[in-house]
Amino acid sequence: MYQAPRGTSDILPEEHPYWTYIEEKASELCRLHGYRRIETPVFEDARLFIRGVGEGTDIVEKEMYTFEDRGGDLMTLRPEGTAPVCRAYLEHGMHNLPQPVRLYYIAPIFRYERPQAGRYRQHQQFGFEAIGEGDPALDAEVIDMAWQLFARLGLKGLYLVLNSIGCPKCRPGYLAQLRSYYGKIAAGLCPDCQARLERNPLRLLDCKREACQTAAESAPRSVDYLCPECHEHFQRLRVYLDLLKLPYQINHRLVRGLDYYTRTVFEVQPEGEGAQSTLGGGGRYDGLIEELGGRPTPAVGFAAGIERMVLNLKRQGISIPQGPPAADVYLAHVGQGAKERAVELASWLRGNGVGAILSGSSRSLKAQLRQANALGVAHALILGEDEVKRGTVILRDMARGEQQVMTPEQALQALRGVV
Ligand code: HAM
Repeated sequence: MYQAPRGTSDILPEEHPYWTYIEEKASELCRLHGYRRIETPVFEDARLFIRGVGEGTDIVEKEMYTFEDRGGDLMTLRPEGTAPVCRAYLEHGMHNLPQPVRLYYIAPIFRYERPQAGRYRQHQQFGFEAIGEGDPALDAEVIDMAWQLFARLGLKGLYLVLNSIGCPKCRPGYLAQLRSYYGKIAAGLCPDCQARLERNPLRLLDCKREACQTAAESAPRSVDYLCPECHEHFQRLRVYLDLLKLPYQINHRLVRGLDYYTRTVFEVQPEGEGAQSTLGGGGRYDGLIEELGGRPTPAVGFAAGIERMVLNLKRQGISIPQGPPAADVYLAHVGQGAKERAVELASWLRGNGVGAILSGSSRSLKAQLRQANALGVAHALILGEDEVKRGTVILRDMARGEQQVMTPEQALQALRGVV
């Protein structure tokens, strides 16, 4: 027997109301803030991510699904949504539109990770990006949207953590401090951190190993090394977040796993869980568009995994609206003539806006009605040879077990009344 590949899962119809619920809340949130939906291809030129996300990141080093296509080009299944949106911004000359350009997406993401609860090899992200403006009021808008998303879903007990990691002007000075600090205690660090020390010292701050965590507590803090512009940006952002009454905490160890971030980084985390259960994260990425070949263009954005939202909705026992029934009416038939009439009637009902499921078998009426019940359909239309001769139908209320003979038009009116 075949199974879904490791780290992937099927979303069965019973599960779908969660997804519909989240997607509707997300789309509504975007509409309220003027974000418009964009869809980019599932795969892109591998170089987009190597350049965009950064060569030293886990994503590029270990997690990308990259393949050579039949034309010999290297393609990568989208491991994150920001670089493709920036590529589309450039490709379609969106810098000519009023700035910032506000975009959102709901899209599958692929990362070859070690699967566990809330961590998959294919997951779905809801993300939004505001491209073309560097004002900290826009960082505040994006952070507020992220917070509102979870509030609208009904999730409780979440943390909003914030940090500023500076810009290409001030970060080298900070990284030198980090290297010097960690260099002195390198022998006590885990092998991963020892290897990262030269290449990517920021990532030492979010290592999960206990010894490294202790070391990170006393490590130099990025906010103490910000240049005046980055410092001012962070202060202004905090003023806006206070105005919006957002309950953020500053976490000096928050650095995020993608290289494109500048200045603001933030995450929303559930209570008492490690970073791998993070509900969503984002930040400013003022250098990315330029890295991809465009003019210097500041931008800020956020993304959250839908599977993790579903997981938290279930954990918190939040009830969500159930989807509509499979259909409004089930057409049962006895005899070939009735079956032919049922085929016609089902099509006619659907044309008139009534959802109709045609019994697929010619089994006994009892068996057909049992199936209607199992499908949770509220009404059945029953057709036998008599009904065909007289041009009538029998409408059955499945819950009450009551039946009435009527014309198809009367049945349509009755069904529309309940639709
Ligand atoms: P990220 O933190 O890598 O950021 O992913 C965003 C969210 O996607 C995570 O917080 C988590 O909810 C979910 N996620 C990530 N990996 C997995 C996985 N393996 N299984 C299940 N869920 C996962 C980004 O991707 C950035 N592009 C976010 C961003 C947008 N920054 C600026 N704009």
